[in-house]
Amino acid sequence: MESISNYMQEDHVLIDGIAERAAAAAAAGDLAAMERDGTLFLQRLERHIEMEENLLFPAFEERTGMTAAGPSVTMREEHVQMKEVFPQIRAAIEAKDAAAYQRAMQALTEMLMPHNMKEEQMMYPMLDDAMGPDAAGLLAEVKEMAT
Ligand SMILES: [Fe+2]
Ligand SMILES: [Fe+2]
Repeated sequence: MESISNYMQEDHVLIDGIAERAAAAAAAGDLAAMERDGTLFLQRLERHIEMEENLLFPAFEERTGMTAAGPSVTMREEHVQMKEVFPQIRAAIEAKDAAAYQRAMQALTEMLMPHNMKEEQMMYPMLDDAMGPDAAGLLAEVKEMAT
């Protein structure tokens, strides 16, 4: 059976791939591709964060009672910090400014990479454990958000 860990980790890989395509476009000065893939990257990352904040973290907190402190609290705080960079990325895309796009993306990536690692190594496995046989139902809800 597919775990929440596997599914969400694959979504990280997919989103990273879009970011890499956008970065390559920015480096090559292909502003149309930078706009297309940079915009898609933000959309997919926002959706991914919504899956976590609206479905996965609440389920984790309900199961474990870890609401005041715990991994989901830290992950939410990191989402807030990452989201602060989104307007800069959007502005760079709108201005067709590849250098500004690269700077903003570097700032985001420095936060996103360790964040994803913590989720993959700790948050998602703890969630799969906490959900037990109900993990499949929760994953189905997550997939519904993805369509
Ligand atoms: Fe996250
Ligand atoms: Fe994530």
